[in-house]
Amino acid sequence: MEINIPDNIIKGVISSKKKDSKYEKCHLKRVTFSHEDVIQFSLYTEKQVFHTNVSLNDVKDKIIELLDKYFNNMELQTSDYTYGYRITSKGKVLSNKHLNKEKVSLVDVNNNRKKKYLIEEGTIVEPLIDLGVMMKDGKVTKAQYDKFRQINRFLEIIDDNIKDERSLNIIDFGCGKSYLTFILYYYLVRVKKMDVKITGLDLKEEVIHDCNKLAEKYGYKNLHFYCGDIKDYAANTNIDMIVTLHACDTATDFALYHAINMHVKYIFSVPCCQHEINNNIETTYMHSVTKFGILKERLSAILTDAIRANILQYYGYKTQVMEFVDIENSPKNLLVRAILTNNKNTNVKKEIDSLMKELNTPQTLYDLCFKNNI
Ligand SMILES: C[S@@+](CC[C@H](N)C(=O)[O-])C[C@H]1O[C@@H](n2cnc3c(N)ncnc32)[C@H](O)[C@@H]1O
Repeated sequence: MEINIPDNIIKGVISSKKKDSKYEKCHLKRVTFSHEDVIQFSLYTEKQVFHTNVSLNDVKDKIIELLDKYFNNMELQTSDYTYGYRITSKGKVLSNKHLNKEKVSLVDVNNNRKKKYLIEEGTIVEPLIDLGVMMKDGKVTKAQYDKFRQINRFLEIIDDNIKDERSLNIIDFGCGKSYLTFILYYYLVRVKKMDVKITGLDLKEEVIHDCNKLAEKYGYKNLHFYCGDIKDYAANTNIDMIVTLHACDTATDFALYHAINMHVKYIFSVPCCQHEINNNIETTYMHSVTKFGILKERLSAILTDAIRANILQYYGYKTQVMEFVDIENSPKNLLVRAILTNNKNTNVKKEIDSLMKELNTPQTLYDLCFKNNI
């Protein structure tokens, strides 16, 4: 069957059933399924409806199959046009096309509506293409969609908190391949036109070398990467913000310690791999929990982040612990947001001390702060 199908179908209906057709009609709509745009075909019998998702490349074949076997009429809509089709008794396809009175929107049609991001998919962030997060046309690669969502969400939380700032000096501790660092620089400097300097620090020499090359390639002149251990970072009094995204285990403690020590105004930290308490905890009070491995691991992670958040409050940070992405996106989905108000909450010290006594374990941030007495 010779038939011209438009690209960018948003919705449609196939109807006028052939003699002996087991289906009454078929509705089409564009949806996002597993991060991919597909057309969902909903085939109706008298009593049931059957849904099938068809990739955009295969839509034409599916339509031809349905028109061949079951139906004679079809209407398809793109945002601007409506296309009509009729199969004659001799099997010929007659078609017409007219301009829609109002644009048909994907959001109206699609329950599965796309989330708005600060950096929308399709926006070309050149280093992210080199890093494999997006393709040349700005479309996010399937493999990196979760990471794209994480860094966008991180960006959104930062953006909500810095409305009055014009310039910032930022450190990304444990930057790794620096997806977050690059998108942060792109957004603050290229989109918001702020005067921003960002430094990435990580243990991995080769990764740091590649990140510096990328920054140079795209003229990100105030973005620099250094190889080193967070533990050995030499305090710099000009830092306004620290970020950490999944800096492993006690690396997060050292990052928070530096932030407190440098009186950094903004802290955005997503911890992970909180092994320290898990490996050392000795508690009789909570033995009924810690005797189960997985519960011990989860409890230790919660205790670690609770101790950190309380210490930040003690040092005058307005502190919140929030879910920054869904758990399906990443199980390590808690973000500690701390903004320096200098309103010290000294009352929490007693609570942290008694918790630490009960746990009977080292905890790096606690030890750094209260055994080194900053
Ligand atoms: C899970 S990766 C996360 C990387 C990046 N922030 C991201 O979200 O894609 C953790 C990174 O922290 C770095 N790291 C861990 N401990 C560190 C330390 N003590 N000093 C510097 N970097 C550290 C690792 O080398 C690794 O690149």
